[in-house]
This record gives sequence, C-alpha cells and structure tokens, in this order.
Amino acid sequence: MSKLMSNYIPLDVTFVSGDGCWLTDKSGKKYFDALSGVGVVNLGHCHPDITVSIVEQAKTLLHTSNWYHIEHQEVLAERLCALSTMDNVFFANSGAEANEAAIKIARLFAKDKGIEEPAIISANESFHGRTMATLSATGNDKVQDGFSPLVSEFIHVEFDDIEALSKHSNNDNVVAVMLEPIQGEAGVIIPESDYLDKVKSLCEKNDWLLILDEVQTGMGRTGKMFAHQYNNITPDLLTLAKGLGNGVPIGACLAKGRAAKLFTAGKHGSTFGGNPLVCRVALSVLDVIENNSVLANVDKMSQYIHTQLESELSDIPAVQSIRIKGLMIGIGLDDNLIDKTKLLQKALDDQLLINIAGSSIRLLPPLIISSDEVDILINKIVKLIETAD
Ligand SMILES: Cc1ncc(COP(=O)(O)O)c(C=O)c1O
Repeated sequence: MSKLMSNYIPLDVTFVSGDGCWLTDKSGKKYFDALSGVGVVNLGHCHPDITVSIVEQAKTLLHTSNWYHIEHQEVLAERLCALSTMDNVFFANSGAEANEAAIKIARLFAKDKGIEEPAIISANESFHGRTMATLSATGNDKVQDGFSPLVSEFIHVEFDDIEALSKHSNNDNVVAVMLEPIQGEAGVIIPESDYLDKVKSLCEKNDWLLILDEVQTGMGRTGKMFAHQYNNITPDLLTLAKGLGNGVPIGACLAKGRAAKLFTAGKHGSTFGGNPLVCRVALSVLDVIENNSVLANVDKMSQYIHTQLESELSDIPAVQSIRIKGLMIGIGLDDNLIDKTKLLQKALDDQLLINIAGSSIRLLPPLIISSDEVDILINKIVKLIETAD
C-alpha cells in the first residue's frame, strides 16, 4: 500500500526520463506527452539550455532569503515587466500562490478605498488554484466541495458574457474581476475576441482591478508571450507560473499602477519565492522563447494542427467542436456517443498522454513540437476517437 495520500489517482505508469515531446517509462517504452506535464514543460522535457542553467546555478548558489538582494530575481522582474508593460513583480512558487498574492493585493486595494467587505468577480468553470482563497475564486463546485466556509466574497458569473459582469456595476463592494483569458481546466474555452477589451473598459469605468490569470495561457502557450496581448489591453494584475520555469516551481504576480504600490514591507512574503535557481531558469526560458523563434513555431504548428484536425475529425459524429488558440487545443466530444472515462487509459495504451477536461480532450503539446511530431499526434488522436466506444 502506498504511503501517499489518496488525493491523486495516477495511471499505472512511471516515467524515468524525458526528451522534448517524449517520455520514457521504466520498461523503455516511449510516450508522446501531448500535455507538457500539465502545460509546464513548454520547451519540452530536459531542454538542453534549461538543463545547463539548472546545473550551473546548482553549482553556484541555490538559496538566499529575500532579506538580501537576489540578482537573477531583479533581472527576471525587469524582463517580465518589459515584456508585459507591467510595473512590478512578486515571485511565488506556484500558480495558486501567484493568484493568492493578486487576491491579497485586491484586498489592500479595497482597504484603500474604505470598502470593508470586498467582493471579487470571477467566472463559472474557472480554475485559479487549490489554496482556500484560490479555490473560493474557482468557479467549480467539485473543487470547493468539503471546504466550506469558503473565503468570501467571490461572485461567479458566466464567462464570455459582458452583460453578466456589468449587472454588478452598482455593487459598491466589488473591487476586482479575475479571469483566465482562455479557460484551460474547463476544456479550452475561448471567449469572443473582444471580450477582454469590454471587460477592461468596464473595470476602468467602475474602478475595478482587472486580474488576469495567465498561469496556463502565459509564456507563449497561445502564440503570444501572454494571451491578453491579442487584445489591446494591460491588466492591473497578471499571474504566471507553469511554463515560466519549464519544470522548476516558480510563480509570479505582476502588478501595474496603483496595484503595484500596495505590497509594502511585511505585507506578503515567501521563503522559497524567487530564489536564485528558479529565477536563473526562468531567465533561460525567456532566452529560449525569444532566441529560438518559439512563438513563430507555435503559430505555424497551430495552423497545421487546426487544418489537420478539421479535415480528419469534422465528419466524426462524436466530435462536436474543435477549439484552438496557439497550442491550447480542446476537442469537444458528445458524451452520449463516447465514454470519455475510458479515453485516458486508451490513449496511454497507445503511448499518448492527454487530458479530459469537462466533455473535451485537452491538448497542450510542447511549444517546440515539429511538424513530424504533429503528424504522430494527429494520427494517435484520430485513432483514439475513431475507435472509442
Ligand atoms: C489558470 C490556472 N490558474 C492557476 C492554476 C494553479 O496553479 P498551481 O497548480 O501551480 O498552483 C492552474 C493550474 O492548473 C491554472 O490552470
């Protein structure tokens, strides 16, 4: 009997090494990782430049506390701010912690405005993490089940519905709106192209902070460094994690304008957050994305995958929709025609790693995927769906 708690139910496979899009199990079998961990190893497993950074930094310095200057942290903050036009950064260790920081900043913003019982609006079907505040922000009963009383107050509204948001304009307790630009855990739900622009205007009109959770959509996943850059907007708070470290744990909460001034001494902190190792690695992640035309590859492969999926899947009755932005891919399935509970194991039997989110297959392949690897992926996906019962 495993001594691990039972909060995960792992599939029966143990990986021992990785290389690019591929993982190898204990028996030497190779699997196509069409999920990049879960949207983490965006540059592929064991990218050589990242490995060099980890090794060199491990030989030099792993940890000093945040009571001293950390050079890589300051350089990384500069580069992230330059890329996003944000003003300041707080470094955490995960997506949930990055969001927790954003929520705390929204609380301080409320205090500044004299609001005693602040409310944040987030979306139904959203996912923001598993800490008490971030699971309260998350718009999914399953994530919240068993954990009441929740952190109040989060108001949940329909995603991609500006009317649903603007109905709260006369609620004086609202201080912020928290959204994913594309909902990832919900199965890759892509809003109308002008939704975020409308949300930003509404936030400006009502003096609400706009918090964009780009933990999954950031770091090139959608073909731009940050997904909100498809719109002409800048959020007040922007959270990152997953791909920022390509496998080492790092999260970041970036802030702009008034929101950037609210964390004063002692208001927040983290022992591990922004340590020399993870910041050095994140700097290498940025180098690789910028120097190796990674975003151009995302665009090219995205178009290729889209064309291939449309031509191979559109005649299959069980396939209801194909949603794709960059290399975030959702294939909507008809639950009546396919038993999706069997798909994960079936894919694994064919040496393919995927995820089922809601009624969709979710794919987040590494951003460095080649066209030959796309062909392998498409063949496996078509076979998986065609032979599903
Ligand atoms: C949009 C989004 N926000 C937050 C999180 C939580 O990140 P972490 O698991 O690193 O705490 C996730 C994780 O899937 C996510 O997709």
